Amino acid sequence: MIKKKKTFYVTTPIYYPSGNLHIGHVFTTTIAATLNNYKKLMGFETRFLTGSDEHGQKIQQKAIENSMNPQKYVDLTSKKFIDLWEKMDIQYDYFSRTTSPKHKEAVSKQFSYLLNSRNIYKGKYKGLYSVSDEEYLTLFQAKKKDGKYYHPISKHELKEVEEESYFFKISNYEKWWKKYLKEHPKFIQPKKIINELLNNFIKKGLEDLSVTRSTFDWGIKVKEDNKHILYVWLDALNNYITALGYNSENDLEFKKFWENGDEIVHVIGKEITRFHGIYWPIILKSINLKQPTTILSHGWIITPKGKMSKSKGNVINPLKLLKNYDNETIKYFLVSKIKTNEDGIFDENLLKNTYNSELANIYGNLFSRVVSMIHQNFNKPIKHKKTSNKNDENILNIIIKKTNNFIKEMDKYKIFNGFQNVIELGKELNKYIDLTMPWKLTNNKKRLSEVLNNLLNGIYALFTMLSIVIKNKSHLVIINSFGFKKIGFDKILDFNKFDNKFPLKINLLFERKK
Ligand code: MSP
Repeated sequence: MIKKKKTFYVTTPIYYPSGNLHIGHVFTTTIAATLNNYKKLMGFETRFLTGSDEHGQKIQQKAIENSMNPQKYVDLTSKKFIDLWEKMDIQYDYFSRTTSPKHKEAVSKQFSYLLNSRNIYKGKYKGLYSVSDEEYLTLFQAKKKDGKYYHPISKHELKEVEEESYFFKISNYEKWWKKYLKEHPKFIQPKKIINELLNNFIKKGLEDLSVTRSTFDWGIKVKEDNKHILYVWLDALNNYITALGYNSENDLEFKKFWENGDEIVHVIGKEITRFHGIYWPIILKSINLKQPTTILSHGWIITPKGKMSKSKGNVINPLKLLKNYDNETIKYFLVSKIKTNEDGIFDENLLKNTYNSELANIYGNLFSRVVSMIHQNFNKPIKHKKTSNKNDENILNIIIKKTNNFIKEMDKYKIFNGFQNVIELGKELNKYIDLTMPWKLTNNKKRLSEVLNNLLNGIYALFTMLSIVIKNKSHLVIINSFGFKKIGFDKILDFNKFDNKFPLKINLLFERKK
């Protein structure tokens, strides 16, 4: 019997095409892409979604400022993300756009269902709204200064609005939500985010959410009441399922990756946890759909001098960065140096140091030294030999242990922790060279071959793990130089894998940067 592959579906937030490209966008997308690559390597059938969030008041305003009709404006501006992912060498399965006919139709049908099932009712909204965040806030949540109200996190000024609106009976689901979170403590990660949600939104009681707007018209029209358009978040959150074909004739992907799927992960920045952690699960519950496995929220990328903002002029533009660093270096830095559960500092000096000290000095040097020594001393494959030498036993154990720890962390979606094992393995392999001193063993070919074979096995493990981020360079090592057909974890424990392989020399992997 053919065993069915397990499925994995991972998403990024769909980004506002009106926003400027930001290193933060690259951070989230790199995390999602890395998880996707990891799961593929582990034999999962995967789907990876990113896209753009194209309706709402902010987009309409920007289109007007640019004297364009909004559709034309989003057609044009969403391309910059497509272009960025191409430059970052990040491949996705779906580029989800909320202005696509398939999405609009599916969401419209869902709204009718929610109206019929009395989850949605008509009323009037009076309160505060942040256009920049497309978010409603209560007086209790807002920060007041000099008679004006501000968003507590983004600090954007809030407007007082009063308009006819449809409401979602979120309050009906409060009990369910609390119970679900108790029963699924890993549903939202990191844990501290749950406490923030509880303190900011749940303690005071969940309020019903206004889900339509009637003072502008750039959005999905409510069929039943043409004056209204859908609130942009109700529209946008649904993209995760409409892209798979939910509520459409062709819903095979939806059935496979959502309804019958094994793992579903939404990667998001911490400021949008309210929408993904409270409203999205409640929407899914109200239409009797399964919940995602995990909502993986990460902190912000900040500069050494604090938050990046347009007004401070310190936003790091990834396109500029790509002029000096290749995409693999940037991706490696983001997953191995920025802890996901707190804000992390991005600074070009740190990026350069990481490149020189880890990519060039630890990984690149290790590979080229070992292959050079093999070429200087041998002209055919060197076989593995189990010895009772303490250094050998120790390094082989470390190879196994670090790989296992990497897998353990990655299976929990803890990328940062996972990559610390890769760095440690790199350091340990260099230490093993210092201890065994292969350059002094040229007259003892037997011992030299044992040492170099162990090192080849270590380098194989190292670049297998690195391959989920440093794809091209790892291919160069494992496929072009070592001669394996593909990269995989299945060979890590087989220390005889180099018995018939003679590695080829290749050009400098990572040239040092000055
Ligand atoms: N359109 C909504 C998301 C809808 S999802 C159904 C949105 N878009 S956004 O363009 O503002 O993108 C926000 C996301 O960009 C954050 O959640 C985060 O993933 C990423 N980042 C933008 N700036 C960031 C930092 N400074 N640091 C880390 N990531 C941040 O919100």
